[in-house]
Amino acid sequence: MAILLPGGAGYIGSHTAVELLKEGKEIIIIDNFSNSKPEVLKKIKQITGKDFKFYEIDYSNKEELEKVFKENKIEAVLNFAGYKAVGESVQKPIEYYTNNISGCLVLLDTMRKYGCKKFIFSSSATVYGDPEIIPLTEECKTGGVTNPYGATKLYIEQILKDTYTSDNTWDICILRYFNPVGAHESGLIGEEPQGIPNNLMPYIVRVASGKLKELSVFGNDYNTPDGTGVRDYIHVVDLAKGHVLALEKLDKEENGIYIYNLGTGIGYSVLDMVKSFEKATGKNVPYKIAPRRAGDIASCYAEPKKAKEELGWVAKKTLEDMCKDSWNYIEKN
Ligand code: UFG
Repeated sequence: MAILLPGGAGYIGSHTAVELLKEGKEIIIIDNFSNSKPEVLKKIKQITGKDFKFYEIDYSNKEELEKVFKENKIEAVLNFAGYKAVGESVQKPIEYYTNNISGCLVLLDTMRKYGCKKFIFSSSATVYGDPEIIPLTEECKTGGVTNPYGATKLYIEQILKDTYTSDNTWDICILRYFNPVGAHESGLIGEEPQGIPNNLMPYIVRVASGKLKELSVFGNDYNTPDGTGVRDYIHVVDLAKGHVLALEKLDKEENGIYIYNLGTGIGYSVLDMVKSFEKATGKNVPYKIAPRRAGDIASCYAEPKKAKEELGWVAKKTLEDMCKDSWNYIEKN
Protein backbone atom coordinates (compact mmCIF):
# COMPACT_ATOMS: atom_id res chain seq x y z
CA MET A 1 0.00 0.00 0.00
CA ALA A 2 1.46 3.31 -1.07
CA ILE A 3 0.98 6.95 -0.21
CA LEU A 4 0.49 9.19 -3.22
CA LEU A 5 2.05 12.66 -3.29
CA PRO A 6 0.80 14.87 -6.13
CA GLY A 7 3.25 17.78 -6.26
CA GLY A 8 5.79 15.73 -4.33
CA ALA A 9 8.74 17.31 -6.15
CA GLY A 10 7.81 20.78 -4.87
CA TYR A 11 9.04 22.60 -1.79
CA ILE A 12 6.82 21.14 0.93
CA GLY A 13 6.08 17.92 -0.95
CA SER A 14 9.77 17.00 -1.28
CA HIS A 15 10.48 17.55 2.41
CA THR A 16 7.43 15.48 3.33
CA ALA A 17 8.53 12.75 0.93
CA VAL A 18 11.83 12.57 2.83
CA GLU A 19 10.12 12.28 6.21
CA LEU A 20 7.69 9.61 4.98
CA LEU A 21 10.53 7.55 3.46
CA LYS A 22 12.51 7.90 6.69
CA GLU A 23 9.50 6.40 8.50
CA GLY A 24 9.64 3.43 6.14
CA LYS A 25 6.53 4.35 4.17
CA GLU A 26 6.11 3.46 0.52
CA ILE A 27 5.47 6.59 -1.54
CA ILE A 28 4.61 7.46 -5.13
CA ILE A 29 5.24 10.97 -6.44
CA ILE A 30 3.41 12.54 -9.33
CA ASP A 31 4.48 15.95 -10.60
CA ASN A 32 4.45 17.90 -13.86
CA PHE A 33 7.43 20.06 -12.81
CA SER A 34 5.44 23.24 -13.32
CA ASN A 35 7.18 24.70 -10.28
CA SER A 36 9.88 22.13 -9.49
CA LYS A 37 12.77 20.28 -11.08
CA PRO A 38 13.40 16.60 -11.87
CA GLU A 39 16.71 16.71 -9.91
CA VAL A 40 14.71 16.97 -6.70
CA LEU A 41 13.69 13.32 -7.10
CA LYS A 42 17.34 12.21 -7.13
CA LYS A 43 18.03 14.34 -4.10
CA ILE A 44 15.17 12.79 -2.13
CA LYS A 45 16.69 9.39 -2.92
CA GLN A 46 20.17 10.63 -1.98
CA ILE A 47 19.00 11.94 1.41
CA THR A 48 17.00 8.86 2.35
CA GLY A 49 18.83 6.09 0.49
CA LYS A 50 15.38 4.89 -0.57
CA ASP A 51 13.66 4.50 -3.90
CA PHE A 52 10.11 5.28 -4.98
CA LYS A 53 7.92 5.33 -8.05
CA PHE A 54 7.45 8.52 -10.02
CA TYR A 55 4.98 9.57 -12.74
CA GLU A 56 5.47 12.77 -14.74
CA ILE A 57 1.83 13.74 -15.10
CA ASP A 58 -0.51 16.59 -14.38
CA TYR A 59 -2.66 15.59 -11.41
CA SER A 60 -5.70 17.18 -13.03
CA ASN A 61 -5.48 14.91 -16.07
CA LYS A 62 -8.07 12.27 -15.18
CA GLU A 63 -6.91 9.61 -17.63
CA GLU A 64 -3.30 9.80 -16.54
CA LEU A 65 -4.21 9.94 -12.89
CA GLU A 66 -6.41 6.87 -13.23
CA LYS A 67 -3.47 4.98 -14.66
CA VAL A 68 -1.60 5.60 -11.39
CA PHE A 69 -4.53 4.31 -9.34
CA LYS A 70 -4.94 1.27 -11.62
CA GLU A 71 -1.28 0.34 -11.46
CA ASN A 72 -0.85 0.80 -7.71
CA LYS A 73 -2.63 0.17 -4.46
CA ILE A 74 -2.94 3.65 -2.97
CA GLU A 75 -3.99 3.93 0.65
CA ALA A 76 -3.76 7.70 1.17
CA VAL A 77 -3.14 10.91 -0.74
CA LEU A 78 -1.27 14.00 0.44
CA ASN A 79 -2.00 16.77 -2.02
CA PHE A 80 0.82 19.27 -2.63
CA ALA A 81 -0.07 20.03 -6.25
CA GLY A 82 -1.34 23.56 -5.93
CA TYR A 83 -0.21 26.88 -7.32
CA LYS A 84 0.84 29.05 -4.41
CA ALA A 85 1.95 32.54 -5.43
CA VAL A 86 -0.41 35.12 -3.99
CA GLY A 87 0.46 37.93 -6.44
CA GLU A 88 0.38 35.66 -9.48
CA SER A 89 -3.06 34.40 -8.45
CA VAL A 90 -4.42 37.93 -8.78
CA GLN A 91 -3.11 38.06 -12.36
CA LYS A 92 -4.16 34.52 -13.27
CA PRO A 93 -7.35 33.68 -11.37
CA ILE A 94 -8.65 31.25 -13.99
CA GLU A 95 -5.39 29.27 -13.93
CA TYR A 96 -5.43 29.20 -10.12
CA TYR A 97 -9.06 28.11 -9.80
CA THR A 98 -8.60 25.51 -12.54
CA ASN A 99 -5.41 23.97 -11.25
CA ASN A 100 -6.13 24.14 -7.54
CA ILE A 101 -9.86 23.48 -7.42
CA SER A 102 -10.65 21.50 -10.58
CA GLY A 103 -7.43 19.54 -10.09
CA CYS A 104 -8.35 18.67 -6.53
CA LEU A 105 -11.85 17.61 -7.64
CA VAL A 106 -10.40 15.28 -10.28
CA LEU A 107 -8.18 13.83 -7.58
CA LEU A 108 -11.03 13.32 -5.08
CA ASP A 109 -13.27 11.82 -7.74
CA THR A 110 -10.55 9.38 -8.79
CA MET A 111 -9.79 8.47 -5.18
CA ARG A 112 -13.46 7.71 -4.59
CA LYS A 113 -13.63 5.56 -7.71
CA TYR A 114 -10.70 3.45 -6.49
CA GLY A 115 -11.94 3.26 -2.89
CA CYS A 116 -9.14 5.41 -1.47
CA LYS A 117 -10.62 7.91 0.99
CA LYS A 118 -7.73 9.00 3.19
CA PHE A 119 -6.73 12.53 2.26
CA ILE A 120 -4.44 15.20 3.68
CA PHE A 121 -4.84 18.68 2.31
CA SER A 122 -2.27 21.50 2.35
CA SER A 123 -4.28 24.47 3.48
CA SER A 124 -3.01 27.77 4.76
CA ALA A 125 -3.41 30.31 7.53
CA THR A 126 -4.60 32.57 4.75
CA VAL A 127 -8.09 31.06 5.24
CA TYR A 128 -8.41 33.14 8.43
CA GLY A 129 -8.27 36.38 6.41
CA ASP A 130 -7.48 39.38 8.62
CA PRO A 131 -7.63 37.78 12.09
CA GLU A 132 -9.97 39.26 14.67
CA ILE A 133 -8.00 37.63 17.47
CA ILE A 134 -4.53 36.13 17.68
CA PRO A 135 -3.14 33.60 18.32
CA LEU A 136 -5.38 31.85 15.83
CA THR A 137 -7.12 28.67 16.93
CA GLU A 138 -8.75 26.26 14.49
CA GLU A 139 -12.13 27.53 15.68
CA CYS A 140 -11.42 31.12 14.59
CA LYS A 141 -13.61 32.50 11.86
CA THR A 142 -12.47 31.81 8.30
CA GLY A 143 -13.15 33.93 5.23
CA GLY A 144 -12.27 37.40 4.07
CA VAL A 145 -9.46 36.14 1.86
CA THR A 146 -7.95 38.84 -0.33
CA ASN A 147 -6.74 36.90 -3.37
CA PRO A 148 -7.66 33.93 -5.59
CA TYR A 149 -4.92 31.75 -4.08
CA GLY A 150 -6.46 32.15 -0.63
CA ALA A 151 -9.92 31.61 -2.08
CA THR A 152 -8.85 28.25 -3.54
CA LYS A 153 -7.71 27.10 -0.08
CA LEU A 154 -10.97 28.23 1.51
CA TYR A 155 -13.16 26.63 -1.17
CA ILE A 156 -11.29 23.35 -1.10
CA GLU A 157 -11.71 23.21 2.69
CA GLN A 158 -15.47 23.60 2.12
CA ILE A 159 -15.44 20.94 -0.61
CA LEU A 160 -13.75 18.54 1.81
CA LYS A 161 -16.25 19.27 4.58
CA ASP A 162 -19.14 18.67 2.16
CA THR A 163 -17.49 15.50 0.90
CA TYR A 164 -17.20 14.12 4.42
CA THR A 165 -20.79 15.09 5.23
CA SER A 166 -22.00 13.21 2.17
CA ASP A 167 -19.98 10.10 2.95
CA ASN A 168 -18.43 9.54 6.36
CA THR A 169 -16.17 6.77 5.15
CA TRP A 170 -13.79 9.54 4.07
CA ASP A 171 -10.93 10.24 6.45
CA ILE A 172 -9.64 13.77 5.94
CA CYS A 173 -7.07 16.04 7.53
CA ILE A 174 -6.74 19.72 6.70
CA LEU A 175 -3.39 21.21 7.69
CA ARG A 176 -3.29 24.99 7.86
CA TYR A 177 0.32 26.00 7.32
CA PHE A 178 1.58 29.29 8.67
CA ASN A 179 4.74 30.65 6.95
CA PRO A 180 6.97 27.76 5.83
CA VAL A 181 10.66 28.65 5.47
CA GLY A 182 14.05 26.90 5.70
CA ALA A 183 15.34 23.85 3.90
CA HIS A 184 16.53 20.33 4.61
CA GLU A 185 19.72 20.41 6.70
CA SER A 186 21.60 18.53 3.95
CA GLY A 187 21.19 21.58 1.70
CA LEU A 188 20.05 19.22 -1.07
CA ILE A 189 16.41 20.30 -1.22
CA GLY A 190 14.83 23.66 -0.48
CA GLU A 191 12.71 26.41 -1.89
CA GLU A 192 13.36 27.60 -5.42
CA PRO A 193 10.98 30.35 -6.43
CA GLN A 194 11.12 31.32 -10.08
CA GLY A 195 11.93 34.95 -10.87
CA ILE A 196 11.92 37.61 -8.17
CA PRO A 197 10.58 36.09 -4.96
CA ASN A 198 7.42 37.40 -3.28
CA ASN A 199 8.01 35.85 0.12
CA LEU A 200 10.25 37.29 2.77
CA MET A 201 12.83 34.53 3.36
CA PRO A 202 13.62 33.80 -0.32
CA TYR A 203 13.97 37.55 -0.85
CA ILE A 204 16.32 37.92 2.13
CA VAL A 205 18.61 35.10 0.95
CA ARG A 206 18.87 36.70 -2.48
CA VAL A 207 19.78 40.06 -0.95
CA ALA A 208 22.36 38.36 1.29
CA SER A 209 23.92 36.62 -1.71
CA GLY A 210 24.10 39.89 -3.67
CA LYS A 211 21.58 38.79 -6.32
CA LEU A 212 19.17 41.52 -5.23
CA LYS A 213 20.23 44.94 -3.97
CA GLU A 214 18.11 45.42 -0.88
CA LEU A 215 15.00 44.22 0.86
CA SER A 216 11.91 46.42 0.80
CA VAL A 217 10.23 46.18 4.18
CA PHE A 218 6.56 46.56 3.35
CA GLY A 219 5.33 49.01 5.96
CA ASN A 220 6.66 50.00 9.40
CA ASP A 221 3.45 51.57 10.65
CA TYR A 222 1.51 48.44 11.58
CA ASN A 223 0.19 47.97 15.08
CA THR A 224 3.03 45.59 16.03
CA PRO A 225 6.01 45.95 18.42
CA ASP A 226 8.34 47.44 15.77
CA GLY A 227 5.70 48.46 13.23
CA THR A 228 6.58 45.75 10.68
CA GLY A 229 4.41 42.72 9.84
CA VAL A 230 4.44 39.80 12.26
CA ARG A 231 4.22 36.19 11.08
CA ASP A 232 4.59 32.67 12.40
CA TYR A 233 7.55 31.26 10.46
CA ILE A 234 7.85 27.51 10.58
CA HIS A 235 10.72 25.30 9.47
CA VAL A 236 9.70 23.17 6.49
CA VAL A 237 11.10 20.00 8.12
CA ASP A 238 8.89 20.54 11.19
CA LEU A 239 6.00 21.06 8.81
CA ALA A 240 6.85 17.87 6.92
CA LYS A 241 6.90 15.88 10.18
CA GLY A 242 3.42 17.24 10.90
CA HIS A 243 2.17 15.40 7.81
CA VAL A 244 3.63 12.10 9.00
CA LEU A 245 1.86 12.50 12.35
CA ALA A 246 -1.37 13.56 10.65
CA LEU A 247 -1.25 10.39 8.58
CA GLU A 248 -0.70 8.30 11.72
CA LYS A 249 -3.68 10.03 13.30
CA LEU A 250 -5.90 9.13 10.34
CA ASP A 251 -4.64 5.54 10.52
CA LYS A 252 -5.38 5.28 14.26
CA GLU A 253 -8.58 7.24 14.74
CA GLU A 254 -12.08 6.72 13.52
CA ASN A 255 -12.96 8.31 10.20
CA GLY A 256 -13.50 12.05 10.43
CA ILE A 257 -12.47 15.43 9.22
CA TYR A 258 -9.72 16.95 11.31
CA ILE A 259 -8.23 20.45 11.09
CA TYR A 260 -4.89 21.53 12.53
CA ASN A 261 -2.82 24.70 12.55
CA LEU A 262 0.83 23.99 11.87
CA GLY A 263 2.77 26.92 13.26
CA THR A 264 5.21 27.54 16.13
CA GLY A 265 2.89 29.85 18.04
CA ILE A 266 5.55 32.58 17.97
CA GLY A 267 5.26 35.73 15.90
CA TYR A 268 8.37 37.41 14.50
CA SER A 269 8.46 40.75 12.70
CA VAL A 270 10.15 41.45 9.38
CA LEU A 271 12.95 43.24 11.21
CA ASP A 272 13.31 40.34 13.70
CA MET A 273 13.80 38.11 10.70
CA VAL A 274 16.41 40.40 9.12
CA LYS A 275 18.37 40.59 12.40
CA SER A 276 18.18 36.84 13.04
CA PHE A 277 19.31 36.11 9.50
CA GLU A 278 22.31 38.44 9.82
CA LYS A 279 23.25 36.89 13.17
CA ALA A 280 22.81 33.28 12.02
CA THR A 281 24.74 33.67 8.76
CA GLY A 282 27.10 36.60 9.29
CA LYS A 283 25.73 38.14 6.07
CA ASN A 284 24.44 41.68 5.65
CA VAL A 285 20.86 42.27 4.61
CA PRO A 286 20.47 45.90 3.52
CA TYR A 287 16.88 47.08 3.62
CA LYS A 288 14.71 50.12 3.11
CA ILE A 289 11.27 50.89 4.45
CA ALA A 290 8.70 50.80 1.64
CA PRO A 291 4.94 51.32 1.53
CA ARG A 292 2.61 48.58 2.79
CA ARG A 293 1.90 45.77 0.31
CA ALA A 294 -1.74 45.49 -0.78
CA GLY A 295 -3.59 42.64 0.95
CA ASP A 296 -1.07 42.27 3.81
CA ILE A 297 -2.22 42.03 7.41
CA ALA A 298 -0.42 43.26 10.54
CA SER A 299 -0.04 40.05 12.54
CA CYS A 300 -0.73 36.38 12.12
CA TYR A 301 0.42 33.53 14.35
CA ALA A 302 -0.93 30.20 15.44
CA GLU A 303 -2.20 28.64 18.62
CA PRO A 304 -0.66 25.22 17.88
CA LYS A 305 -2.06 23.50 21.01
CA LYS A 306 -4.51 21.25 19.16
CA ALA A 307 -1.77 19.74 16.96
CA LYS A 308 0.31 19.13 20.09
CA GLU A 309 -2.49 17.44 21.99
CA GLU A 310 -3.99 15.41 19.17
CA LEU A 311 -1.04 14.72 16.88
CA GLY A 312 1.81 14.92 19.38
CA TRP A 313 3.35 17.49 17.05
CA VAL A 314 5.47 20.44 18.16
CA ALA A 315 7.67 22.63 15.98
CA LYS A 316 11.21 22.11 17.30
CA LYS A 317 13.38 24.23 15.03
CA THR A 318 14.26 27.81 15.91
CA LEU A 319 14.33 30.96 13.82
CA GLU A 320 18.11 30.56 13.74
CA ASP A 321 17.75 27.06 12.24
CA MET A 322 15.34 28.44 9.64
CA CYS A 323 17.80 31.18 8.63
CA LYS A 324 20.87 28.91 8.64
CA ASP A 325 19.18 26.19 6.60
CA SER A 326 17.73 28.64 4.06
CA TRP A 327 21.19 30.10 3.57
CA ASN A 328 22.91 26.72 3.45
CA TYR A 329 20.58 25.67 0.64
CA ILE A 330 21.32 28.78 -1.41
CA GLU A 331 25.08 28.44 -0.86
CA LYS A 332 25.04 24.80 -1.97
CA ASN A 333 22.90 25.51 -5.02
N1 UFG B 1 7.65 41.22 3.40
C1 UFG B 1 8.45 42.33 3.23
N2 UFG B 1 9.20 42.40 2.08
C2 UFG B 1 9.21 41.43 1.13
C3 UFG B 1 8.39 40.30 1.33
C4 UFG B 1 7.62 40.23 2.46
O1 UFG B 1 8.46 43.25 4.05
O2 UFG B 1 9.91 41.57 0.14
C5 UFG B 1 6.84 41.11 4.62
C6 UFG B 1 5.35 41.08 4.37
O3 UFG B 1 4.82 42.38 4.27
C7 UFG B 1 4.86 40.30 5.58
C8 UFG B 1 6.00 39.33 5.87
O4 UFG B 1 7.15 39.90 5.25
O5 UFG B 1 4.72 41.16 6.69
C9 UFG B 1 5.77 37.94 5.33
O6 UFG B 1 5.45 38.03 3.95
P1 UFG B 1 5.46 36.73 2.99
O7 UFG B 1 5.17 37.21 1.62
O8 UFG B 1 6.70 35.94 3.20
O9 UFG B 1 4.28 35.85 3.58
P2 UFG B 1 2.72 36.19 3.79
O10 UFG B 1 2.47 36.12 5.25
O11 UFG B 1 2.32 37.38 3.06
O12 UFG B 1 2.05 34.95 3.05
C10 UFG B 1 2.43 33.64 3.36
C11 UFG B 1 2.34 32.75 2.14
C12 UFG B 1 0.93 32.55 1.73
C13 UFG B 1 0.10 32.11 2.89
C14 UFG B 1 0.27 32.99 4.09
C15 UFG B 1 -0.41 32.35 5.25
O13 UFG B 1 3.03 33.33 1.05
O14 UFG B 1 0.90 31.53 0.78
O15 UFG B 1 1.65 33.14 4.39
O16 UFG B 1 -0.40 33.17 6.36
F1 UFG B 1 -1.20 32.13 2.53
